[in-house]
Amino acid sequence: MIRTLILTLAVFAALHPAPGYDGPEILIADFEGENYGSWKVTGEAFGTAPARGTLPGQMAVSGFEGRGLVNSFRGGDSSTGTLTSPEFRLERKFLRFLIGGGRDEARLRITLNVGGKVVRTMTGPNASPGGSEALALAGWEVGEYQGQAATIRIEDQATGGWGHINVDQIVLTDIKPPMPLKDVFRELTASDSYLLMPVKNGSPKRKVSVFVDGQEVVRNDIELADGEPDWWAPMEIVRWKGKRLKIVVDSLPGDSKALASIDQSDQFGDETSLYHEPLRGQLHFSPRRGWNNDPNGLVYFGGEYHMFFQHNPYGWGWGNMHWGHAVSRDLVHWQELGDVLWPDKFGPMFSGSAVVDHANASGLGTKEKPPMVLFYTAAGDPTVQCVASSTDGRTFSKYLRNPVIGQVTGGNRDPKVIWHEPSERWVKVLYVEKPQSQHTIHFFVSENLIDWKLASIFDGDKAPGRFMFECPDFFPLAVDDDPAKSMWVLMAADGQYALGRFDGTTFTALHSRLQSQQGRGFYAAQTFSDIPKEDGRRIRIGWWQTETRGMPFNQSMTLPHEMKLVSTPDGPRITNAPVRELESLRGKKTIHSNLLLNEQSANPLKNFEADLAELKMRFEPGRANATIDIRGAEIVVDPVAGTLKVQDHVVPLPKSKVVDLVIYCDRTGLEIFANGGQVYVPFPFQPKSENQRYSVKANGGEIRFESIEAYSLNSIWPPAQ
Ligand code: FRU
Repeated sequence: MIRTLILTLAVFAALHPAPGYDGPEILIADFEGENYGSWKVTGEAFGTAPARGTLPGQMAVSGFEGRGLVNSFRGGDSSTGTLTSPEFRLERKFLRFLIGGGRDEARLRITLNVGGKVVRTMTGPNASPGGSEALALAGWEVGEYQGQAATIRIEDQATGGWGHINVDQIVLTDIKPPMPLKDVFRELTASDSYLLMPVKNGSPKRKVSVFVDGQEVVRNDIELADGEPDWWAPMEIVRWKGKRLKIVVDSLPGDSKALASIDQSDQFGDETSLYHEPLRGQLHFSPRRGWNNDPNGLVYFGGEYHMFFQHNPYGWGWGNMHWGHAVSRDLVHWQELGDVLWPDKFGPMFSGSAVVDHANASGLGTKEKPPMVLFYTAAGDPTVQCVASSTDGRTFSKYLRNPVIGQVTGGNRDPKVIWHEPSERWVKVLYVEKPQSQHTIHFFVSENLIDWKLASIFDGDKAPGRFMFECPDFFPLAVDDDPAKSMWVLMAADGQYALGRFDGTTFTALHSRLQSQQGRGFYAAQTFSDIPKEDGRRIRIGWWQTETRGMPFNQSMTLPHEMKLVSTPDGPRITNAPVRELESLRGKKTIHSNLLLNEQSANPLKNFEADLAELKMRFEPGRANATIDIRGAEIVVDPVAGTLKVQDHVVPLPKSKVVDLVIYCDRTGLEIFANGGQVYVPFPFQPKSENQRYSVKANGGEIRFESIEAYSLNSIWPPAQ
């Protein structure tokens, strides 16, 4: 204890050669003992003794001194209690301590009590999910109570997320501790296109607002870096050029450099390394900065494929939902434009869809310039359905009389809108979660995309097989390419689908709970609207959960793939195939045909090396396993067991005369299409950069390969500058 005290003193004296230094520091508590000593405990949250660091079920706690600290996570967030110190005298100008945990001024706090009154209080830093369990220095000026008796009380009356408080090392001192600051602000004139926000992944989320002319125009939760940032998150401010911006942060440690370090720039970021970061998928779309989840509003408009997406521009994890925006002319090369929908008074911008309103029934465009209309969920309280539009595919405005559908239940979201030719009406399918987690799809109809009428309710729990979960998609698909034999597909976020009939009002499922993908990390996929009739493909893109730790971006999208319905002995089933446009990425190739391999054969791909690759092969299944090594990932086709194994992931492979495989390899994972696309396995995986080798082997017998093709692929991103 003494040693810690001296050390603290020495460190402090060195860091702060303080002019006003009077007396040595007085330790009030360091919580290193076997119990709380003469501190009084009530409730469960504090246990009977100081915690030794992190408690079960808690994120790693750091920043405390020695081995012990006060940690009210005992029994989880739901426990409550108080911890009160014995009386001591305030014999220095400041009281300093370390504090962490949740932020709740009323229920989670440390207080200083003098003469029976609370004279100082402070809460922890974390107000929203994510954040950090690191304790930081803080304190109070107590000079005015010099010599008076006081007590400290630590209270936890909070029971929800972040319902705990951590405290350590309480010291009386004459050296001013860093005082946490509230509603700190900085004013500047917007001269450039972006404000660069310093982000430190895993630090407490601060509320960061921007005011223009006294109006709050932006508000986000940002893990601001108090010191050296992990990365810079650009915030577009070009629309306020020349105006005064007031940036307000709700709370910051006294010594934080966050506000001062915010910079302006006309560059989005480090343009030379953008898209060439080591873990950037080179075949798959990912946002320049921040987090993505669901693809939204996939639509072909004005000669471009538009892809919007759930975007957190200011964090590596989920949050602050915006609609990001990217465009492509070939479904392969994407150009990210800025975010088009920002959180507003109705809440964050959750998932949805887009259509082209060719007849301008909505009145949001003109006959000559038909609008692209976006449908999204504003996930505030209430959670409502809204509309936005654009006539040029670049500038977007929200409909002035939003919302267009009020809250059905708190869990209503992800509108998908389609044009229903036979009834000449628009149909919107909306996921509506009922209390007790009942999964339903509400079907609405409209003449003008603005006024919606409830037409029917599909109850996933009553459907054959019980299924249905958020992010629905709904479309007709020809069976065996025969439009006369078309069926309706109702698809859920995990790729499960039902096949059935739709009369313009009600969907009747005939087959349910079928799987349109068998991989990992695939979710919330959507198909494109308004693909020209002469093309007629049903093209899907999913969110691909490829975690890229250490990068200033996270997650990505799957390759665009074409879906079809083919007859199988079990009935019609969806198949997936990568879109043909991807062939434009092919570089050098190695091709073999009619090749007999046995266990002794040389590797037919021994001279093929590539960072990015496409492999295609066809063979007749016999008794032997085909084992394919892709940069250290092993794929095994076992015809006897009827399985396809990708690393530790095994899926059934329907029997067929010929096994055919198409495999894409990117830095973030593999996408495997097998047996005419009846099996589709997206599989997140990070190959080692130095291993660019591929091999094909026969194990336990021989295999006759009709063909083996390997292509190195070019990146979809622009070359480094
Ligand atoms: C699916 C989802 C949607 C929601 C969105 C929010 O991943 O939970 O239901 O609209 O993400 O980002």
